[in-house]
Amino acid sequence: MTQHQRLLIIDFGSQVTQLIARRLRELNVYCEIHPYQKVTDAFLTDFAPQAIIFSGGPDSVTREGSPRPPKSAFTLGVPILGICYGQQVMMQELGGLVESGHGTAEFGRAYVTPTERALPLLEGWFQDGREQVWMSHGDHVSRIAPGFEVYGTSPGAPFAITADPERHFYAVQFHPEVHHTPKGAKLYENFVRLAGFTGDWTMAGYREQAIEKIRERVGDKKVICGLSGGVDSSVAAVLIHEAIGDNLTCVFVDHGLLRKGEAEEVVTMFRDHYNMRLIAADESDLFLGALEGVSDPEVKRKTIGKLFIDVFQNYANQIEGAEFLAQGTLYPDVIESVSFSGGPSVTIKSHHNVGGLPEKMGLKLVEPLRELFKDEVRALGRELGLPEKFIGRHPFPGPGLAIRCPGEITREKLAILREADAVYIDQIRKHGLYDEIWQAFVAILPVRTVGVMGDGRTYDYACALRAVTSVDGMTADYYPFSHEFLGETATRIINEVKGINRVTYDITSKPPGTIEWE
Ligand code: XMP
Repeated sequence: MTQHQRLLIIDFGSQVTQLIARRLRELNVYCEIHPYQKVTDAFLTDFAPQAIIFSGGPDSVTREGSPRPPKSAFTLGVPILGICYGQQVMMQELGGLVESGHGTAEFGRAYVTPTERALPLLEGWFQDGREQVWMSHGDHVSRIAPGFEVYGTSPGAPFAITADPERHFYAVQFHPEVHHTPKGAKLYENFVRLAGFTGDWTMAGYREQAIEKIRERVGDKKVICGLSGGVDSSVAAVLIHEAIGDNLTCVFVDHGLLRKGEAEEVVTMFRDHYNMRLIAADESDLFLGALEGVSDPEVKRKTIGKLFIDVFQNYANQIEGAEFLAQGTLYPDVIESVSFSGGPSVTIKSHHNVGGLPEKMGLKLVEPLRELFKDEVRALGRELGLPEKFIGRHPFPGPGLAIRCPGEITREKLAILREADAVYIDQIRKHGLYDEIWQAFVAILPVRTVGVMGDGRTYDYACALRAVTSVDGMTADYYPFSHEFLGETATRIINEVKGINRVTYDITSKPPGTIEWE
């Protein structure tokens, strides 16, 4: 199997380490993030990186026992780029000096100006004299290590850019991976070029390798895949199907909480178009029965989650000889995070997934998307010929419409919600806004309001439109629709959807709100 070139990111706990990986993947460079505790000499030899990046981190190298890279990182003969804490640790380890505070802490925007010396790492920089960068440091380097020279300075960081070009060791005090360092991407591009990367991480290549890997792992055994219709499980299913054909069976559970036309779309796509073995299980009676009278959001989530696992297991048990379960796990779920506090975090919502299933069923896992970020999964989906409709779809939560129907869930409310949601999404698509929005949906509110239509009084449900922009769903802002758009959409919903006579727009950001209503 052809192996791609690999870059190792040693994580010292920065909040933005994942962004480094994003920047590199955009350059078609394969990289992995590993916590510093795990990166031993043996690990390094085994990983055989073509270059290494030290991430930033919250600790201070002046503190005894603070995180360090293994010594052998510096003798491997590969280029290294140190960022923020990564710069400081590099200086400290190679004979320089780092000091705390003394009025030189910098947080936020800063400007770096060049020194006399030229450095290939900075190609394309300083065309207008100085560059904006993003700083976030309390400590600073006060003496650079032997062999290093200074190539850029800022008011708080006299050694903002340092390098030992001969050894290809580069170290910067700022964060080139963040958006607020506009030329940061260029710096990464220069670094990987200097390190000899050819950009061999492409989706076409990944597809071939992933198929080979699946065949190797699974052999002639059978695989079960839970299909939700979302982009991750769809891409995983198509990829595995390409690798092992009929030895894959997909199970699609309709819990009665899907959007308008969704179940039919999934069946048509995967059974008819891709010719996959697909069990489409209509279990809406079971789920809606169990949810009768339930209005507490957490009880809803737990009821659906538990039932889903039972139902899935029942169907999976009918597939004789299945030894593997496919999961659409993505790279951000896999990255081991560096935890300094280690305290338990508060449960805001218990998310629905099929975690725990493989152990319960004695199945081994196939996770062909483990190395990919979300947008790479989309790129792979395109490579596999999945229609845009599946690839570019907004995320849809596991508990489905249940959490968009505050209060008690009834078939009547679900039917109204489905229609209203379909009109709303149609409006968004017609106005060409779908791809600008992270997620948009309607929630049906547990209140009836009085209205007047024609000459008659109405007493129907109110609904709320939600549309947010976000990068990862962790934080979000409401989408600034024009008043014309909102007015037109409200009119269409009230005219076209029987059962709704009032439309509101939710302008809460996250935090303090969450994206879903429950
Ligand atoms: P919240 O409402 O927590 O949602 O701001 C953040 C993102 O997660 C989705 N979401 C879920 N996805 N299972 C999922 O797979 C769940 O139980 C679940 N709950 C929320 C939500 O749609 C949004 O994209």
